[in-house]
Amino acid sequence: MTTAPPITYLDGPYAPVHEEVTAHDLPVTGTLPPELTGRLVRIGPNPVTPPDPATYHWFMGDGMVHGVRLRDGNAEWYRNRFVRDKHVAAALGEPPPPGERPEDGVVNTHVIGHAGRTFALVEAGSRPIELDDELSTVARCDFDGTLDGGFTAHTKLDPATGELHAVTYNWQWDHIRHVVVGPDARVRRELAVPVPGGPMVHDCAITERYVVLLDLPVTFDLEAAMGGAQLPYLWNPEHPPRVGLLPRHGTADDVRWYEAPLCYVFHTLNAYDLPDGGVVLDLVRHPRMFATVTNGPNEGMPVLERWTLPGDPAAGAVRASPLDDAGQEFPRIDERLTGRRHRYGYAVAFGDDMQSGPALKHDLDAGTTQAHDYGPGRSTLEPVFVPREGGTAEDDGWVLSTVQDATTGTSDVVVLHAQDFAGDPVATVHLPVRVPYGFHSSWIADPA
Ligand SMILES: [Fe+2]
Repeated sequence: MTTAPPITYLDGPYAPVHEEVTAHDLPVTGTLPPELTGRLVRIGPNPVTPPDPATYHWFMGDGMVHGVRLRDGNAEWYRNRFVRDKHVAAALGEPPPPGERPEDGVVNTHVIGHAGRTFALVEAGSRPIELDDELSTVARCDFDGTLDGGFTAHTKLDPATGELHAVTYNWQWDHIRHVVVGPDARVRRELAVPVPGGPMVHDCAITERYVVLLDLPVTFDLEAAMGGAQLPYLWNPEHPPRVGLLPRHGTADDVRWYEAPLCYVFHTLNAYDLPDGGVVLDLVRHPRMFATVTNGPNEGMPVLERWTLPGDPAAGAVRASPLDDAGQEFPRIDERLTGRRHRYGYAVAFGDDMQSGPALKHDLDAGTTQAHDYGPGRSTLEPVFVPREGGTAEDDGWVLSTVQDATTGTSDVVVLHAQDFAGDPVATVHLPVRVPYGFHSSWIADPA
């Protein structure tokens, strides 16, 4: 006898939408900063045909991308589009995208701009799908033939080199890979690092010296796969949790591993080097993952934590210290500081019931947190920081988020000034439809 899961990820704020919508000249309350010229894009699971709620896993839903185009103080359009992998294309009666391979699956986890192109991303073996500027599917992408394996959802753009760092995995591999995509959108490094046990590696971090590798105890489970689990990765406390420091240009033999707390981490906030050769790694820590709840990430309160990796390799273990014990997820920084010391972090309050609360701004130097409550019935997921051009302060810019309103059944894009985080929004763009809870967002500024 099975127990009903606590939520299906198909109802309420998670409920999929069915129409692809194009809307122009969106109404705006307040004043959009004219500097915000580009696209806010986000992506999440949105099954194209109704799945069986008893077996549906949130991570495996077909991808849908949503975008809002801002220019010179106007909100020019909103679009949502299914990301057309071969299964979505077939369901829509369309041919598969160019470049599709048998092993490529749904793409639903992140969407980024790089080298003037737009890429929808997913982890665990599938390649990205390239989108055009209006979010239509162009092709399955192997970075012009330079990517050997699959890719990942979470990349780290080094602001100094313009290189995109990724850590990729695949249940069929006995290793994980450090992949570097150049500013030309061609892979220039794909290094295998032996890692046994098939861990799920959702994110990574970089510093100026290192790539930070997460090897944590959610691992591929053959029995679950044979039993037909949509996502055959389960909590495995027998898998020793550890964090590795790979020198940016080093080999697999150069990796320094540290014992880590027994937990799971989907998302890092950022990392940076310490003068003694160690590293600070800020992240959201889940107490465990996919131990008893196997249809989505709902295994207890995720908290913000700082892990210090000592410069002395003999120290051997991570030192963990709490930054904020309140439940939260989807951590973001000012990405001009990726791999460098950061002061501020943004996230969204998130309980163990998978319902979100206010957006959060952490001042990690002062040890304080501000919250922005979007109002009754209004909730958001990942906030994205966009720096003001010419600004020098780390929080001189805006925090953009897609906010769902349960009372109207629509969504807004809300623009906060990061230095007046709890104050009234600078602008609210009203979308004609609801944007379901999903995964990740990017601001893709127009080329200067
Ligand atoms: Fe993620």
